[in-house]
Amino acid sequence: MAGFNSSIVLRFAQVGALAASVVFMGASAAQTSDELIAERLKPVGEVCLAGQSCARGGAAPVAAASAAPAAGGEFNVEQAYQQSCNVCHASGMAGAPKLDDTAEWAARLEAKGLETLVANAINGVNAMPPRGMCMTCSDENIAALVEYISGHGQ
Ligand code: HEC
Repeated sequence: MAGFNSSIVLRFAQVGALAASVVFMGASAAQTSDELIAERLKPVGEVCLAGQSCARGGAAPVAAASAAPAAGGEFNVEQAYQQSCNVCHASGMAGAPKLDDTAEWAARLEAKGLETLVANAINGVNAMPPRGMCMTCSDENIAALVEYISGHGQ
């Protein structure tokens, strides 16, 4: 039952109402969310829109079928920020430090160090969800995002 409810929440999250849902989901649901999102993203990437080529040659190679640009070699920090982090970090929702709040980021960097900020972004901290809901982001990707956000405007 809990899993079913989570998947409903996630469906809304993907449609764009993710900010509010995320906050209420809380950290305990995060592990399940990981798996559910991965499951839900997969079929989307594998849909054959025009009914072409995908029917041939059996299973499509995973890399070619992937709908997750952040999972491959071409990781675009700015794009990933827009997709995963901006929803909270642009507005300062739930106490998220704003992207352009240079002083706030400088203070956090000085107090905790970049490594801790990265670790907190990966694991989540308070209302900050693990990986900022970017389930396709690797640790390296998150590190790049944290550098991007915390160094913005400097
Ligand atoms: C659901 C809203 C939300 C999303 C989405 C989100 N954040 Fe956050 N983030 C927060 C909040 C709230 C905080 C403040 C947490 C605190 O310090 O109490 C925060 C804090 C942080 C911090 C500072 C952590 C620290 O230890 O001071 C980093 C770094 C960060 N976010 C990175 C990211 C990145 C990178 C993404 C996108 C991949 C992201 N966030 C997406 C809400 C969000």
